[in-house]
Amino acid sequence: MKIVIQPARPEQRRDRPAGDKLVFGKNFSDHMFLMDYRENGGWRDPRVVPYDNLTMDPAAMVLHYGQGIFEGLKAYRWADGRIHLFRPEKNVERFNRSARRMCLPEVDPNLHLEAIEALVRIDAEWVPRSAGSSLYIRPTMIATEAALGVRPAHECLFYIITGPVGAYYPEGFNPVRIYVSDEYVRTVRGGLGEAKTMANYAASLYAQEIAKKKGFTQVLWLDAVERRYVEEVGTMNIFFRIDDELVTPPLTGSILPGITRDSVIQLAGHWGIKVTERLISIDEVMETIETGAMKEIFGAGTAAVISPVGSLFFKEKTYKVQDGGVGEWSRRLFDEITGIQYGEKEDPFGWVR
Ligand code: COI
Repeated sequence: MKIVIQPARPEQRRDRPAGDKLVFGKNFSDHMFLMDYRENGGWRDPRVVPYDNLTMDPAAMVLHYGQGIFEGLKAYRWADGRIHLFRPEKNVERFNRSARRMCLPEVDPNLHLEAIEALVRIDAEWVPRSAGSSLYIRPTMIATEAALGVRPAHECLFYIITGPVGAYYPEGFNPVRIYVSDEYVRTVRGGLGEAKTMANYAASLYAQEIAKKKGFTQVLWLDAVERRYVEEVGTMNIFFRIDDELVTPPLTGSILPGITRDSVIQLAGHWGIKVTERLISIDEVMETIETGAMKEIFGAGTAAVISPVGSLFFKEKTYKVQDGGVGEWSRRLFDEITGIQYGEKEDPFGWVR
């Protein structure tokens, strides 16, 4: 299928914010990509059009039963002005896995990549130039059929929007204070945890608000059955440096298979670091902090890349990770991954496109 491009007229163009005023997810570029699905006709009308409101029936199924998925990736401007994507084929592949789990139709991976590239090309001027900034890309699919029966929708919309985002750490790389939630859970094995579906983020809000009110930045999520094993931190995967080994929970079904997670595992392995995917209980985490063997804890995700954890609060007690500063491996992984993304470091894995 050929993507039809309808460029924005001058009056349809949007105001571009200054580089230092970029708040995550608040500014959107001039164009968006749209494509419609009908069960009998498949996907049709792939098109790039001026960014605008969507209209849909108030009975659209996504508005009632949450049948919707999304992705998040970024385009980076290199010093020479060229624009690159980081492992976009992984997002495209995960999007289809999420689609299958949510009974939504899959999108041809080549067409999906082509759509991302068409959008970045037409809005190339929106890819910011300031250090650490990028163009965030948000592919989304929603069930648009107007029907209130509880079943998979026969009509859907696939769309992609983009918007400039600033450096995640404008004031420097800061370790965060984490609240361990043993009351509320994000997801459960056999549930939706491994899909990037809207519902998982909705499910996270309540505990996140509790954590915020108590003065913490993010929630550390435990497994829903035993409330014992660590799963994720905030919207990120989690890593522990125990002595000279890197440990991360395995993809048991309730954990999102993060692309930054995969990049950390591959990079650390490439450096000769032993990386183990295994269950790790919150008791082991606390004990390891107390013996001093826990050298670093960090989150890994697209938005922040690496987010160092300074302390954990669990059952009314604060556990400080080492001196609460930024660990050596956290810093090295952050520098290496962002270095590859911005073309400042060699890309031994062919991650950049
Ligand atoms: C990330 O940490 O990269 C995310 O997935 C956050 C995003 C939902 C805003």
